[in-house]
Amino acid sequence: MKISIIGAGNVGALSAMRVAQCGFGDILLVDIAKGIAQGKALDLEDARAILKVNYNIKGTDDINSIKDSQIVVITAGLARRPGMAREELLSKNAQILKEVCLKIKELSPQAVVIVVTNPLDLMTCLASKVTGFPKKRVLGMGISLDSARFANLIAQELNLEPSDIDAVVIGAHGEGMLPLVKHTKVKGVSLEEYLSKEKVDDLIRKTVGRGAEIVSFLGSGSAFFAPSAAVAEMVKVIAKDEKKILGACAYLNGEYGIKDICIGVPVRLGKSGIEKIIELDLSEGEQKELLNSAASIRKLTEQFSYV
Ligand code: APR
Repeated sequence: MKISIIGAGNVGALSAMRVAQCGFGDILLVDIAKGIAQGKALDLEDARAILKVNYNIKGTDDINSIKDSQIVVITAGLARRPGMAREELLSKNAQILKEVCLKIKELSPQAVVIVVTNPLDLMTCLASKVTGFPKKRVLGMGISLDSARFANLIAQELNLEPSDIDAVVIGAHGEGMLPLVKHTKVKGVSLEEYLSKEKVDDLIRKTVGRGAEIVSFLGSGSAFFAPSAAVAEMVKVIAKDEKKILGACAYLNGEYGIKDICIGVPVRLGKSGIEKIIELDLSEGEQKELLNSAASIRKLTEQFSYV
């Protein structure tokens, strides 16, 4: 199975490493900047003899090499530079995404596409539109990272293992996320039973701010260890047809009362991409918040509809 990762920066290169260490697939790392993907691929290849894991990895600056990939991960994008307005960054990243997606459409028309570039929900909507692929074959990695962050903070608070926590977050990736307290389980029991509302609200506030907290420590760039772990998990579930339920940014066609945009929801993933969108019972307040989150994604998508 050929897995192409476009963008060999922090998230792309670490995703390549994690997927490679799972020991399956032929991985292609692509970056527009000459030499970066080639150098990182050679370095990753050298690790095989130490890790005693056999994987194939190649690096290139030629996007045409993605031909006939079964899975394509898009991490390509620009980081915001001093003085660059958010709008300018969005429009530049939207242009990059469009160029990359036209190539995927031409060269790998059967691929499942996983979008990672931010702002995630907007970029997933654009990727779906530009490729014109069946909706189930274009998804975004964002909300599973938000769920992992929520689970981690709950585990810390309760002094439990993260694997004891099954956190459920839906909505827009980032500040528009909606952690679902009733559906989040601690050892199979609702989080509501474990912690007071005040404590839960505090954990939610920390989860929503986690990405920004990391950025403020790093000084430049954004998180990459947990994002790449979330990418590798998605790739593995699809490649191995595990049919596992994960959070993903998915195109909705009426589910949750939302139509014609991509937003984070639980989905069952398998080799053809999104096999099923899971509709959870939401309270009135949660439903309202989700619709608000969807409205903000729709507004942004319409703004970039020229792409
Ligand atoms: N084709 C291929 N690669 C590209 C292109 C393109 N058209 N344009 C930019 N790139 C590459 C850059 O050269 C850079 O190496 O994308 C890479 C992005 O890497 P980083 O700047 O290190 O960004 P990273 O931290 O990996 O984040 C990538 O994922 O989580 C999101 O918000 C994050 O949108 C960002 C993306």
